Amino acid sequence: MKGRITVPVGIERISFYTPRYMLPLRELATARGADYDKYRIGIGQEIMAVAPPDEDVVTMAASAAIPMQEDFQAVELVLFATESSIDQSKSAGLFVHGLLGLPQRCRVVELKQACYSATLALRIALQTVAANPKAKVLVLASDIARYELGSPAEPTQGAGAIAMLVSATPRLVTFDPAAGIHAEDAMDFWRPNYREEAVVEGKTSTRLYLHALQKTWEHFHEQTGCLLADFDYCCFHTPFTNMAAKAYQILQKIQPPETPKPDENSFAQRVEPSLQYNRITGNTYSASLYECLACLLDQAPNDLTDRRISFFSYGSGCTAEFFSGTILPGYKQHLCTDQHREVLEERTPLTVRQYEDVFNLAVPHDGWDYTFGQYRTGPFRFAGVSGHKRIYARNE
Ligand code: COA
Repeated sequence: MKGRITVPVGIERISFYTPRYMLPLRELATARGADYDKYRIGIGQEIMAVAPPDEDVVTMAASAAIPMQEDFQAVELVLFATESSIDQSKSAGLFVHGLLGLPQRCRVVELKQACYSATLALRIALQTVAANPKAKVLVLASDIARYELGSPAEPTQGAGAIAMLVSATPRLVTFDPAAGIHAEDAMDFWRPNYREEAVVEGKTSTRLYLHALQKTWEHFHEQTGCLLADFDYCCFHTPFTNMAAKAYQILQKIQPPETPKPDENSFAQRVEPSLQYNRITGNTYSASLYECLACLLDQAPNDLTDRRISFFSYGSGCTAEFFSGTILPGYKQHLCTDQHREVLEERTPLTVRQYEDVFNLAVPHDGWDYTFGQYRTGPFRFAGVSGHKRIYARNE
């Protein structure tokens, strides 16, 4: 197959976590005087995850990593991707390192470039493991998507984390070396240090995403000669599921004219199986593309063995990458499907009033000590702040 090599490094495990609270968007539509079909069909979202005050990117990422605990002692590098950073200096990865009891002979760092940074983390992880096959790398991507109450972007909020164990004994996915890349200095979505909510120019951001997709595809195609028809499934960075539909349409449009037309169901077959989690969690920023991969692995109706997947990663501002991978035989035995089902099905629905109260309880900036009330979380919680230090606790 064009553009393929068999390097034995890749993802050994992948696990997803999302907060224990959610808001059905039907309720939000009623409260905002919007037509629910705009959210459900026009944007493509049905439910958004809501992080309580004692859940943050650290607790979500640590919870996502728990299924990999048997391998923690082999982890030599932790890469924490986020754009919901909790400290200007210390990596969120070090809080996770402490909560999970990871080895001290380890490197830990945080990476930021909007929703793209987990892709660079994955690439660094693959290179690290190729150079040192005994090492395992823990890639964490964790974010809380937060926009102003009542803004057009409000129904595209969400929260969640992905943990990926990258090793020389991959069980799930291996990646091809080629990558189409693109970068340009743009202002489509950003969050100044003095704001809790992102600023987004939604239409500009959509246009730029599609432009970057075209540019990265062209670069990828130049290197590999691959066509869209070479891929069985397509995973996209998904700020809302209708964005993936727009992306797939563009990819079809830019194929050479002689390419056979795909059948009408091709979106349903190639993209839809990766979108089911996103539709009921909302945007998870840096985790979103890999949440789509986890969803595809869990939910695809057919066996994915040897199926070839395309990936498109986009981070506003903007940087983007188009790359590809292949699903490995036996992958089903190494999935966390049951945990994912539990975390998605056992959520507490909030009323709009409760969601707004939680939204307004942002971490105080006055430097005083605080102890947070206990909400439902995973195994870990952000208990409070004391002497400017964030205090984390493990739930009994
Ligand atoms: N029934 C069905 N569809 C409807 C509808 C209804 N009653 N009312 C509107 N729609 C459709 C619109 O036609 C539009 O579809 P299209 O995009 O295919 O043209 C879609 O719903 C959105 O409506 P629109 O009025 O354009 O939306 P908006 O101005 O409220 O904003 C976003 C939508 C997505 C731009 C906004 O939610 C946003 O900015 N989100 C954040 C985006 C982001 O995260 N970007 C950064 C990372 S890539």
